Amino acid sequence: MKIKGIKAGELDAQKFINDKIDKISKIVGNEFAINALSGGVDSATVTMLGNWVLGKRLKTVFVENGLMREGESEQVEGLFRQLGRTIEVIDARKEFFIALKGITDPEEKREAITQTFYRNVFGRIIKKSGAKYLLQGTILTDVDETVAGIKRQHNVFEQLGIDPQKSFGYHILEPLIQLRKDGVRIIAKALGLPESVYNRPPFPGPALATRVKGAITPDKIEMVRQATVITEEALEPFGAFQNMAILNEDRVTGIIDGKRAFGRQIEIRCWDSFDATEATPKELPYQTMRLLGERIPAEVPGVVGVTFNFTSKPPLTMEAL
Ligand code: XMP
Repeated sequence: MKIKGIKAGELDAQKFINDKIDKISKIVGNEFAINALSGGVDSATVTMLGNWVLGKRLKTVFVENGLMREGESEQVEGLFRQLGRTIEVIDARKEFFIALKGITDPEEKREAITQTFYRNVFGRIIKKSGAKYLLQGTILTDVDETVAGIKRQHNVFEQLGIDPQKSFGYHILEPLIQLRKDGVRIIAKALGLPESVYNRPPFPGPALATRVKGAITPDKIEMVRQATVITEEALEPFGAFQNMAILNEDRVTGIIDGKRAFGRQIEIRCWDSFDATEATPKELPYQTMRLLGERIPAEVPGVVGVTFNFTSKPPLTMEAL
């Protein structure tokens, strides 16, 4: 069924919120539901909507998949505790690294992540909690990119002919599916989320796995995690839609402590965009680029070079995988 998108400019936030609250309430009835919060604006908005309707009948989890950014689970858990919502952190690091072991193809990586989230982790939580529904923050861009065959977004099923009830044993509700990122930010603000959440740069569900080329290992994730800390710190003042550090697979000859080092390279992408369907590289001061070129090799062991990607989306996509 074709989804009727709602443009941010045409969005009546209060009406949208009331409609979704009604719908969730009608569908879930007296049953229990779960939702996974990553800290991004989509899942945070769904958490607020679900909390409004279901209160204690909604269990919210943060899945620590080993692929998240530095300190992410603590930050998200802390922020939502302040907002009055208890989050359970589920440690699934081992499971994700085992599922990803040796996979180099980008779409196979995405599929491994999807199956680990939905079949294994959520499947287990749903069974244990007796919930019948999963609430999640799929948006229209996720559906479009998946249906167009650009990349399989981790959270799209129905549009690929997959029935989550049959495949995983639970129903999925997607209250934000008519919106794009700019629309979700309006709803997040109207629901009372703080600016740090409603204006938070997006971060993909498959997390840092979308930024490591070649096979994923805990070591490579750690490298890209450290490079991400430096990149986000240096680029945050420029207010880009999204910025990212990507770990390249190929190595180059460098020099560490006066000796030959066959080292890794980090690629930086800094994007301007409204809704992630198209994007252009942000113009950055040369000094900032130089700083990243110096800091990343100095602070991330094994990295000898930094490159910047200056191509738009399309033909690139925003994430590397
Ligand atoms: P791409 O790389 O497709 O990214 O140009 C467009 C926007 O979507 C985010 N992204 C994802 N978000 N699940 C998500 O929830 C995914 O599988 C996924 N893949 C990419 C990306 O960070 C960007 O904001």
